[in-house]
This record gives sequence, structure tokens and C-alpha cells, in this order.
Amino acid sequence: STSEPLKVMISGAPASGKGTQCELIVKKFGLVHISTGDLLRAEVSAGTEIGNKAKEFMNAGRLVPDEIVTAMVTARLSLEDAKKKGWLLDGYPRSAAQAESLEKLNIRPDIYVVLDVPDEILIDRCVGRRLDPLTGKIYHVKNFPPETEEIKARLVTRPDDTEEKVKARLEIYKKNVEAISSTYSNIMVKIDGNRQKEVVFEEIDSLLSQVQKDKIKMVKSE
Ligand code: AP5
Repeated sequence: STSEPLKVMISGAPASGKGTQCELIVKKFGLVHISTGDLLRAEVSAGTEIGNKAKEFMNAGRLVPDEIVTAMVTARLSLEDAKKKGWLLDGYPRSAAQAESLEKLNIRPDIYVVLDVPDEILIDRCVGRRLDPLTGKIYHVKNFPPETEEIKARLVTRPDDTEEKVKARLEIYKKNVEAISSTYSNIMVKIDGNRQKEVVFEEIDSLLSQVQKDKIKMVKSE
């Protein structure tokens, strides 16, 4: 018998390294990465109705209304690949109402990972962040410069990555964090995200591997 696939939630302040860790987690565990930020940015660049609604909120560093984001996430979670391979939810839930929506649908992760990084470092990470629109890869002008001149030439900056907007995003994160973590307190693991990305990943890797082992054991003893 095979066990149920892994279900992981990753959370943390803006630029705490969620997207960066998700790249590494997906490579190793093959989970379906569901990032509400990425999904919303794709809607914005495709000029869809959702994108047009979401754009002003995102560019101001504010949360997009719950009903828009919740509909998007639950639709994505219900697709076959997420059920089969397991999922890695990044950037959702972000409010008490969003956490409640998942609870009502009986959607719960096996583990809730929170990346912990001091405020002053978050601001520097956001302001220096660059994205490759072709591959979706995340860079940083100082910490992770692009590998080639060709990549460097096509990198873009997010409109919400100015110092002022990062501060606004951080405020909103802090206002909501308590309500969300109380929902998942029994499966929450806080990780020091202010270390080299490989070191942070090592810790996440061993946590997820343990959770996976425990799930297999549970199936075997049934
Ligand atoms: P979203 O895209 O989720 O933004 P965020 O939470 O602010 O997170 P970021 O993407 O900024 O950072 P990250 O933690 O992924 O860090 P990264 O790995 O890139 O959301 C954007 C907007 O969409 C929201 O403001 C909101 O409007 C809307 N939205 C999304 N979800 C929503 C929801 N559920 N409800 C309502 N609205 C929603 O790393 C950052 C930088 O640091 C990079 O340059 C990276 O190279 C560097 N870095 C990473 N790790 C390290 C390390 N260990 N050491 C040094 N540098 C590092």
C-alpha cells in the first residue's frame, strides 16, 4: 500500500525566502507548488478579469480580497496532480478568513513551516530581488546574481518591491500572523531563515523526510 502524498504549507514575511525554498523542495520531493503570488502575477500579466481586479491591491502591497484568492487556490488544489503528487502551498492562507475556508473544506497540511527572518534583512532582500520572467527563477543583485549576461539582461523587478511597499506588506503580515498560526499551532515548525539558503533547506529537507516516513509507518500499521 502507498501512503497519502505530502501536504506542506510554507509561510513567512515578505522575502523570508518562501519561493527560494519552494524551488528546492519541489526538486527533491516532487510536490505541486501552489504559490498565490505567482498565480496572481500570472493572471495580471495575462490581463484576465481576476488579474485586473488583483492588480491594484498587489501593486499597493495590500492583500487581494479573500474570495478571489480562495477560489483560485481551492480550484488548483482540487486538480488531479495535486491530489496524486501532494502539494506545497506558498502564501496561503494569509488571513484568518482564508485559514477558516480551508478548515471548512477539511484541507489540512501535514506540516506548517514558518521562515523567521529579521525585518531589516527582509527589506534588503526585497529591494535587491530580481525575477527571470522566462524561467520564473528568483535572483538577488548581491546574494544570488544571475549566471550569465543574457539572463541578467532580461531580469525584472516586481512593482511591489520598493522599500515603502515592503514596509506596508510587512505590517499586514504582522497583523495577520497570529490568527493563522493559532490554526496550525500543533503542526507548526519555526525555522531560522536568516542563513544560507542551502542550510535552511537542509533543515526543511530533514523535517519533510521525517513527516514522509511517519506517514508510511502509519499506513503500514493500519
Ligand atoms: P507573494 O508573491 O506571496 O509575496 P510575499 O509573501 O511578499 O513573498 P515574496 O514573494 O515577496 O517573498 P518570498 O518569501 O517568496 O522570498 P523569495 O524566495 O522570493 O504575494 C505578492 C502579493 O500577492 C501580496 O502582497 C498580495 O497582494 C497578493 N497575495 C498573495 N497571496 C495572497 C493571499 N493569500 N491573499 C491575498 N493576497 C495575496 O526571496 C526574496 C529575496 O531574497 C530574493 O531575492 C532571494 O534571492 C533572496 N533570498 C532568499 N533566500 C535567501 C537566503 N537564505 N539568504 C539570502 N538571500 C535570500
